[in-house]
Amino acid sequence: MKRSVVAGALGAAIIMCAGAIATTAMAADDPITARKTMMKNVNAATGVLVRMAKAEIEFNAISAELALRVINTASQGYGELFPDGSEDGGQTEFRAGPAIWSNRDGFNTEIAKLQNASAEALVNPPTTQEEVGPALNSVGQVCSSCHEGFRLKN
Ligand code: HEC
Repeated sequence: MKRSVVAGALGAAIIMCAGAIATTAMAADDPITARKTMMKNVNAATGVLVRMAKAEIEFNAISAELALRVINTASQGYGELFPDGSEDGGQTEFRAGPAIWSNRDGFNTEIAKLQNASAEALVNPPTTQEEVGPALNSVGQVCSSCHEGFRLKN
């Protein structure tokens, strides 16, 4: 049982690495798809932490740390995926708001907040189920504050 959880976490890590390489390769050609993919990865990682915090899935320190690392990795370089001319976010549910281009400093501040919150949580990654909630909250509040100002719902 324990072995399979660890194997699962490692498998996920390998898949995420492959995903990161693919994302980098397509970022230059298609920044909209790349940044949406990045947010989907961040969302999946956050979902793991949410379910662990609610004890819907068993606590696993490796998976919790991995989830925080996915979020931290996504926050690095995320700002590069909004070049001029990529304002049209396509016809999906969410898209990038115009404030990203009119208030770039504000947007960069939100990215830095996500980077810092995840890096701080990684100084002492959760070692018990009880510690997942506080780590999740500090990262999660940045999701809402950035989305409020910089994400539009179609
Ligand atoms: C620095 C700003 C910022 C932060 C921080 C941020 N997001 Fe986002 N998010 C965006 C923007 C902008 C979009 C729309 C991207 C686009 O359409 O190009 C988005 C889109 C999304 C989407 C929709 C993706 C899709 O399918 O189109 C999800 C889900 C999401 N974010 C989850 C999260 C979660 C969870 C967090 C926190 C762990 C988070 N985001 C943190 C800016 C941010």
